Amino acid sequence: MTALISATLLATAAISGVHGEKPHASSWSNFSLENKIKAMPTGDTLRGQEVHEQMMCNACHGEKGESSSRNYASLNAQTPEYTMKMMLDYQDGRRWETFKQANIMVKIAQAMDNQQIADVAAFYASNPATVWNEPKPVDAKIDRLVRKGDASRMLVPCASCHGAHGEGKDITPAISGQVPEYFVRTMQAYKAKHRLNDVHEGMAQFTHDLTDAEIQALADYYASLTRRQ
Ligand code: HEC
Ligand code: HEC
Repeated sequence: MTALISATLLATAAISGVHGEKPHASSWSNFSLENKIKAMPTGDTLRGQEVHEQMMCNACHGEKGESSSRNYASLNAQTPEYTMKMMLDYQDGRRWETFKQANIMVKIAQAMDNQQIADVAAFYASNPATVWNEPKPVDAKIDRLVRKGDASRMLVPCASCHGAHGEGKDITPAISGQVPEYFVRTMQAYKAKHRLNDVHEGMAQFTHDLTDAEIQALADYYASLTRRQ
């Protein structure tokens, strides 16, 4: 309960805009990102669980990273490289979105050192994925978008990067098991160029020509996908 109250206070601080100046970090290149991730310490699952509880990540992201409500991102079964990249991006203000509750992540990440970041990343990666929606028959057009892409819009298939089961790899995130509400919000943030932390703004290109209906259908598809790794 105390954790929830404190998290609410933190969230209120973030919402009232007490997040200071945006730090000016340079964009990643493939090379600088690879080196940074390689230089991170080795994470420890048990220590990660402690950090997750002590820093009250669990108040918003759930006991094991499965998200406590449909408002927050799922972190369970995420690749450790992607989780580490996100925390570094929040720290440096590379990830700086207009969604007000996202500001809290900047403050939280700035309070963490590299070891704590590596530890929580190991903890989330060790927890199984959630299936959010009842599996239902997949729309043929969405299936095509995921597996074949759409040459007329220069859309590369999602599965070619995010994996056949949305399981992700290295810095490419797992997207199956993601909360659909968050999935939609972050895809719209890429599309509107409010989320600009990825290398070469790749996801801004892939979302540019997607319709709102397609984004919603992709979110529902990945939220009902069972992970087979
Ligand atoms: C008050 C609620 C709150 C707390 C506490 C919190 N987070 Fe978050 N976190 C969020 C929200 C909201 C987002 C998604 C922001 C958005 O929509 O852009 C997020 C996003 C993230 C992401 C990016 C997820 C993705 O898929 O890109 C990571 C990683 C993360 N949080 C880790 C943590 C860790 C580690 C802690 C504890 C040290 C923590 N969070 C504590 C609310 C919270
Ligand atoms: C060329 C590879 C590539 C393709 C194709 C691609 N993605 Fe991505 N995607 C990425 C990478 C890399 C990231 C992480 C970007 C970052 O660091 O913020 C990402 C991020 C995302 C995220 C944010 C995840 C989170 O937890 O915040 C979602 C959702 C997503 N992609 C969905 C899709 C969908 C749906 C498609 C197909 C329409 C697609 N992607 C196509 C590489 C790709």
